[in-house]
Amino acid sequence: MKNFSDIDIANLREDYQKQTLDVLDTKTDPIEQFKLWFQDAVNAKVIEPNAFTLSTASEGKPSSRIVLLKGLDEQGFRFYSNYNSKKGQEIDANSHVAMVFLWHGLQRQVRIEGLAYRLSQTESQTYYSKRPRSSQLGAWVSPQSTVIDSREVLEDKYKEVEERFKNTEVIPIPPFWGGYIIKPYKIEFWQGRTSRLHDRILYTLQKIEPKEWKRERLAP
Ligand SMILES: Cc1cc2nc3c(=O)[nH]c(=O)nc-3n(C[C@H](O)[C@H](O)[C@H](O)COP(=O)(O)O)c2cc1C
Repeated sequence: MKNFSDIDIANLREDYQKQTLDVLDTKTDPIEQFKLWFQDAVNAKVIEPNAFTLSTASEGKPSSRIVLLKGLDEQGFRFYSNYNSKKGQEIDANSHVAMVFLWHGLQRQVRIEGLAYRLSQTESQTYYSKRPRSSQLGAWVSPQSTVIDSREVLEDKYKEVEERFKNTEVIPIPPFWGGYIIKPYKIEFWQGRTSRLHDRILYTLQKIEPKEWKRERLAP
């Protein structure tokens, strides 16, 4: 067991040698490329491969947190949250967001920039109904991102909500909770390489209909 003072932070480093990435190895469509890498992350048993850092910004001040990817198709990346949360308020003010996936076991990172839109209530309800009942109740309980006096506030509210819905089979989705879709306009795939000469392939959206992407290599 090391004490903090024994840890030489400046000397913590990994050499990345697992794989390589070239423009010629990549798909023309970055969503297809993402699906391949996501599949690799699942097969490599990366823990929570769908966890990503979501950055939002309003008034020029960025903030980041981890959320879970819950769907992906040609339209974009879906996740769920509380619409009144800090991230929700920042997206209301500025729909430009950034995402980062880190699949450390594969020495890979994917960075995405795009525009976030709320999903329809019907789509959110479909996902909400598939969540465990305890998570459904939890969404009603938490005034996400607000200051609360104690943990008991949450536990008392949970009991109250449990009681309120005890005879309700299909719990309705809270009006302040739901999904977002992030429609990407930039997606970068990063593969760690030796000597810090990493591979970076950036896709930039050129045309929306039909979708056309430019692919370029970036210096590490
Ligand atoms: C692994 C992991 C997964 C998480 N998934 C979600 C999620 O899908 N949705 C969500 O709202 N918060 C999720 N959180 C909590 C957020 O990181 C954050 O604490 C919360 O959303 C409040 O953020 P905000 O105050 O910036 O809005 C997750 C946290 C971790 C560590």
